[in-house]
Amino acid sequence: MNFTLSNGLAMPVVGIGTFTMTPAQAEAAVLCALTSGYRMIDTAQAYMNERAVGRAIRKSGVARGEIFLSTKIWASQYNTEGTVEKSLELLGTDYIDLMFIHQPAGDFMAGYKKLEDAYKEGKIRSIGISNFKGEKLERLLNECEIKPHVIQMEAHPYYIDTATTERLAKHGCRVMAWYPLGHGDKALLEEPAFIQLAEKYGKSTAQVILRWHIQIGNQVIPGSKNPEHIKENLDIFDFALTEGEMAQIARVNKNQRYYNATDEKVESFANFVIDLDSQE
Ligand SMILES: NC(=O)c1ccc[n+]([C@@H]2O[C@H](COP(=O)([O-])OP(=O)(O)OC[C@H]3O[C@@H](n4cnc5c(N)ncnc54)[C@H](OP(=O)(O)O)[C@@H]3O)[C@@H](O)[C@H]2O)c1
Repeated sequence: MNFTLSNGLAMPVVGIGTFTMTPAQAEAAVLCALTSGYRMIDTAQAYMNERAVGRAIRKSGVARGEIFLSTKIWASQYNTEGTVEKSLELLGTDYIDLMFIHQPAGDFMAGYKKLEDAYKEGKIRSIGISNFKGEKLERLLNECEIKPHVIQMEAHPYYIDTATTERLAKHGCRVMAWYPLGHGDKALLEEPAFIQLAEKYGKSTAQVILRWHIQIGNQVIPGSKNPEHIKENLDIFDFALTEGEMAQIARVNKNQRYYNATDEKVESFANFVIDLDSQE
């Protein structure tokens, strides 16, 4: 199942995320995902596993054209010449389906301009922003030439940023939820509401949560190193939550984020230098 982006590009509603994975872990997880039927992968320069993701794609034997691949320019690379091309080289591909600017830090408009140029050149097929909200989001929307197609932001049943979602929906920009399973938090996965729904549908609580995401229109990229979980997370298309159940899940919201960075911390990312060539 796909969502269609505002420029007509089809994006699978479920992908695998590779945050905190070493190159070896990312290679194994992505290979497992692709051979289990996934057709969407999310990585980032900052994860230092783009080269491993590229290896997994080639090993899988799945045609590049069948895969939707997303990656992100890290904040200290916004003024680095050739950074989009560096990701292409590491991933071993000649185009990226979706490329984000990873953080609203430093000279983010320079990073966004690189994405717009790469989009016009056909090196990337859609443009994303990540972790933008408030004033920085407004500045980006005012100054950009091409409106972003996707925003990646924290979203799970304990936390939904409705204001940012609605603001961007006006431009047809879709939400890709990070930490869709609350980064694996047991309290979330064991919420009584999810246990009850999991029993009703013969599914796991993780599957109920992922199903809820896609029914509210969120694309999801659950991260997992466990082959059983990887398979389970894609198996969410044979049941549907009712309107009443969706309303019940909405009441679980606690406005509680798992990742709380101060503005200073976010700004400091612009000075956090990464050596992309050093990855295995
Ligand atoms: N743009 C950003 O700034 C940003 C920030 C954070 C993350 N992200 C992206 O979002 C992706 C998802 O975030 P995440 O991986 O940190 O968090 P997550 O997907 O919410 O949760 C991952 C955790 O849940 C566990 N898990 C996965 N499937 C499960 C299942 N079916 N049952 C029980 N536990 C399960 C995993 O453990 P096992 O390995 O044992 O399955 C892992 O500990 C990242 O990989 C990355 O691509 C982006």
